[in-house]
Amino acid sequence: MAEVVVLGSAEEAGALVADAIWRLVDSDPAPVLGVATGSTPLVVYRALAATRGGRDLSGLRAFALDEYVGLSPDHPQSYRRTLLTEFAEPLGLDVGQVVVPDGDPARLPSAGAAFEQALAEAGGVDLQLLGIGTDGHIGFNEPGSSLASRTRVKTLTEQTRRDNARFFDSLENVPIHCVTQGLGTILDARHLVLLAFGAAKAAAVAAAVEGPVSASCPASIIQFHPHVTVVLDAEAAGELANLRYYQGVWERKPGWQGI
Ligand code: PGA
Repeated sequence: MAEVVVLGSAEEAGALVADAIWRLVDSDPAPVLGVATGSTPLVVYRALAATRGGRDLSGLRAFALDEYVGLSPDHPQSYRRTLLTEFAEPLGLDVGQVVVPDGDPARLPSAGAAFEQALAEAGGVDLQLLGIGTDGHIGFNEPGSSLASRTRVKTLTEQTRRDNARFFDSLENVPIHCVTQGLGTILDARHLVLLAFGAAKAAAVAAAVEGPVSASCPASIIQFHPHVTVVLDAEAAGELANLRYYQGVWERKPGWQGI
């Protein structure tokens, strides 16, 4: 079962996850991190930048979950640009250390396979950060996505486009298509860390952690993974039926030193 960790604030969650990332980095000269965009992982990236110290990160590779189709790579809302600004630059990483699915319309037919190949050549993802959409998506795998899917082109739901319109001038400017890691791709990562904050995520979190595994809630696929940690604030945990059971269980595990 997923380990559910409920913390007092998003900042505490960011610090806990950053610790787990540093443990990985400090034990592996060539760690592969799966990075996510959206508001949720920003607390992790800020905690990483604040605690980086003098580590040599030249062996680190980061693979993004998804990218919009049709935004130039330097568009401020492209996920490539966002990850460089929010994640790579504060850590002093080189652009070549961050691999993002290619959303250029001219190369779409091969974008999925090219990304999967790069991921395989890097040896797969060690720790994958995940947000969750209010509709239960992870990456841009919207409800109805194949549970075995690999990286491919998808169409965003109206709900997701509305959720993301806050980053654009208007809803019409939100791209309609994306290239996203598939659910099967995400499951190949060795450790999944799903973060969610705020009451708006509570229903999706409950469906993902406690609901049936179903394409109707793509995030429920995490229940098939042998090593998954769900890191929440109290509001995002608010609809978990077993909340009382989850709270503090992790702290009481013998030898628990973090996720
Ligand atoms: P958010 O998005 O972190 O901006 O809430 C999460 C997601 O859509 O996966």
